[in-house]
Amino acid sequence: MKPKHHIFVCMNQRPAGHPRGSCGSSGAGSVYEALAGEVERRGLFEKVQVTGTFCMGPCDRGPTVVVYPDGVWYGRVKPEDVKTIFDEHLDQGKPVERLRLS
Ligand code: FES
Repeated sequence: MKPKHHIFVCMNQRPAGHPRGSCGSSGAGSVYEALAGEVERRGLFEKVQVTGTFCMGPCDRGPTVVVYPDGVWYGRVKPEDVKTIFDEHLDQGKPVERLRLS
């Protein structure tokens, strides 16, 4: 079955002190775990897929999260934002504006 939403999380890790920074060093691992945990808690295995990726570009504003098919990009996502993304974006179809990358 094709998932309704596919959430990509940049997991790229650069060495400490690298000038571009990285999502991995900004807490992407915790965000991935929170997203996967929320899918499990809500029993959404067939509807929402979470996938870790390499660099998607906006490294200095990571962790970067992209929600498809909507093509909505989020930056500086924290684990505590995950519930809001599910409640407002995935459930109600309203992207979380305060997290959106311009
Ligand atoms: S390291 Fe995550 S967007 Fe580049």
